[in-house]
Amino acid sequence: MKIGVLGIGITKFGERWDQGLRDLLLDAQLRALNDSKIDSKQIDAIYTGNMIGGIASGQLQIGSMATENLNLHIPSIRVEGACASGSIALREGINAIESGQAEIVMVNGVEKMTDVSTEQITTALMGAGDEEIEGFAGLTFPGLYALLAKAYIHEYDLSRETLAEVSVKNHFHGARNSYAQFQSEITIDTVINSTMVANPLTLFDCSPITDGAASIIIANEKIAKKMNSEVYITASALATDTLSLAKRESLLELKAGRIAAENAYKQAGITSKEINFAEVHDCFSIAEIYAVEALGLAKRGEAGKLYDSKQTYFDGDKPINTSGGLKACGHPVAATGIKQAVEAVTQLRGEGGKRQVPNALTGVTYNVGGSGATACVHVFKKMK
Ligand code: COA
Repeated sequence: MKIGVLGIGITKFGERWDQGLRDLLLDAQLRALNDSKIDSKQIDAIYTGNMIGGIASGQLQIGSMATENLNLHIPSIRVEGACASGSIALREGINAIESGQAEIVMVNGVEKMTDVSTEQITTALMGAGDEEIEGFAGLTFPGLYALLAKAYIHEYDLSRETLAEVSVKNHFHGARNSYAQFQSEITIDTVINSTMVANPLTLFDCSPITDGAASIIIANEKIAKKMNSEVYITASALATDTLSLAKRESLLELKAGRIAAENAYKQAGITSKEINFAEVHDCFSIAEIYAVEALGLAKRGEAGKLYDSKQTYFDGDKPINTSGGLKACGHPVAATGIKQAVEAVTQLRGEGGKRQVPNALTGVTYNVGGSGATACVHVFKKMK
């Protein structure tokens, strides 16, 4: 597969009380259009990831909002797969091009989360769990990932300091990203001594509640070549698992993530050794540990070693989450998958500034829905 990237756009992530859902989406769309140098009339279809617009903004039919913003009348649909909505939308856009139905596609992710209370958002997000088994019992997403953390720590003796280093590294990168929600560096003590949210996860183990949007414009190889695209998507894989943790074969891996990664590598004809950097789903610090192992960047139970030896910084052997990840860049849930794509393209174009990965040729994005019920992996390659 060779899908060219024509343009990318992203809004500042954070508490965006200055912009509504529509404005955020429009802002990202216009930035991507401007970056692509195409006219909006050249777009054949639009896919937009959005999870909680219906609950947090009372707004559905985001597909039509995306075309209305650009004064277009083309096919345009909203895609939902919890926190993986953005990546699934990207996969739908790729499928439209691969099938020949479209030549140029815009894919967006947008979320407006801070207009309602934390309690309302916590309830809305729990829609991504299993309502009958988990939601009904009073579990929340911090609670679900705390259960995963307990299982992993028990089995593999992951230290508190090593887990905290995930957030320390992500804040270090976020401090070098002008789009990030949190642009301040923190220490291991900051993480360990912050307010307990769901034992063992404290405030600084958690991604925040965020507003934001991101867009990417992709095209078939012929058009991409004509437009001198530097970056191509060479794999797109999606896998699923049970909604509830209780029904999983094991709590020591995210199986959907591993399957999606294996399929993506097969499609791209690469192994994990060829990956120069990865943008992964760290909705909670422990999730990044699972992600690194699902991607095959560390053996099962050994991801912590990469953090103890500081290899996951932008200039290390295995750079992870140079955007700041969900922790520091923020997590406007359905926008996250496209934000990851935007960061991958930024790195491969060599535009990462103070967080630029040296000699970046191949990057991977890994986006998870719920506690691992959906996982979507894309491979991005520089081809010039
Ligand atoms: N990391 C660091 N600081 C955070 C933060 C986070 N995750 N979340 C909030 N803060 C900060 C705020 O900036 C604010 O700082 P200030 O007082 O200096 O302005 C302070 O903490 C209080 O913010 P508030 O919005 O009142 O926090 P909260 O208690 O309502 O929410 C959490 C905190 C952790 C409960 C919330 O961020 C959360 O639910 N995160 C997880 C989201 C999630 O589950 N996403 C889906 C994953 S699959």
